[in-house]
Amino acid sequence: MNRRRRDLVMLSVSCFLAIFLTGACPTEQATAAPARRSGIAQRRPLRQSRPAPVRPTSRVSANEPSALENQPKMSVEKSVFGKTADGVPVDLYTLTNARGVVLKMTNFGAIVVALEVPDRDGKLANVNMGFSNLEGFLGKNPYFGATVGRYCNRIAAGKFTLDGKPYTLATNDNGKHHLHGGQVGFNKVVWKAEPFENDSGVGIQFTYLSKDGEEGYPGNLNVTAVYTLTNDNELAIEFTATTDKATPVNLTNHCYWNLAGAGSGTIRNHVLMINADKYLPVNAVLIPTGEVARVTGTPLDFTKPEKIGARLDQIQATPVGYDHCFVLRGQAGQMHLAARVKDPASGRVMEIHTTQPALQFYSGNFLDGGPGSNGYRQYDGFCLETQHYPDSPNHADFPNTILHPGETFHEKTVHKFSAE
Ligand code: BGC
Repeated sequence: MNRRRRDLVMLSVSCFLAIFLTGACPTEQATAAPARRSGIAQRRPLRQSRPAPVRPTSRVSANEPSALENQPKMSVEKSVFGKTADGVPVDLYTLTNARGVVLKMTNFGAIVVALEVPDRDGKLANVNMGFSNLEGFLGKNPYFGATVGRYCNRIAAGKFTLDGKPYTLATNDNGKHHLHGGQVGFNKVVWKAEPFENDSGVGIQFTYLSKDGEEGYPGNLNVTAVYTLTNDNELAIEFTATTDKATPVNLTNHCYWNLAGAGSGTIRNHVLMINADKYLPVNAVLIPTGEVARVTGTPLDFTKPEKIGARLDQIQATPVGYDHCFVLRGQAGQMHLAARVKDPASGRVMEIHTTQPALQFYSGNFLDGGPGSNGYRQYDGFCLETQHYPDSPNHADFPNTILHPGETFHEKTVHKFSAE
């Protein structure tokens, strides 16, 4: 037997033995070896290692943790969104979590521009109403997606007295009352933005210095708003603020949601639960009367899940619809369940937990289909704004909203998205 022939026989024998013992020929293993990173001898046949399945870009898992394995990597991208009327450059940030959920935000107004979450089949849709361009947000609009302050909701006649001193704020609500921070609230200023990526997800830390006297408020207020898109499909919003003079502070986010997809029509069929036994009755111009009333037996009883449209037309208001502040059951300062809402058609669910004491449920009553509303019509979206009670500086028995020097305002809200 010449040497070449002997080598061939030896190889065939060893190959036969190897297939018998491990299911693979050593020549296959030798070929495969450079492709493997581990130095540990491979006993499994090559044919068993399959390439990772490719995930279609528009379908992602809503719930299963295992879905993380095949998802795209987290990312944060920054692009030019435009310029303010004063020529200040504004950016658009596109954040993608490890499950492929996409959050778009701008540093103008620390606004949520879009949030794409999966339905029960994994199909993504943007569930947050707004504009696709900066011009829309620069113009008069109903606070789409915005971070709202220094005091969200209304302060009657824009007046309050603090430590014996009277203050007058901008009266931008029909020229009579103060609404959502005034003419130029936190939704109309350019924030400093620092994007980040960590083990839990991707996010942006926005900071803004609201100067002493801005819109009539006392004190320099340093505000931080951290928006995080977690890998558990949560949008977490954390506000902190400090001041050098006593001042009222009430911060919220003003996203308009439609879980069937922004622009898909009415939200009357969404099923809502609000974890509140009480609400704050308001007068004809939406200023709290000071009373705290029970929801039992009224169209405001959402303690059990109910369609938004089921009793909406029974609300006696102009325009008709929900625009009420609910007193949450949970303990303020601790994370507690505020609301749960589901779109039965798509299966998308949003659950809100917060440290804030109250929740404004607004059913988009003032949306009029015009350019300021970006064509969205009445009841095309709803807001669930976690916050303190409106007009608190004029109601000694409402929870305190006055921040003093040396104290830190701190509130957190988490919107958890899933599908069923
Ligand atoms: C208020 C509405 C107001 C809307 C502004 C909501 O937070 O409750 O009364 O019209 O913001 O678009």
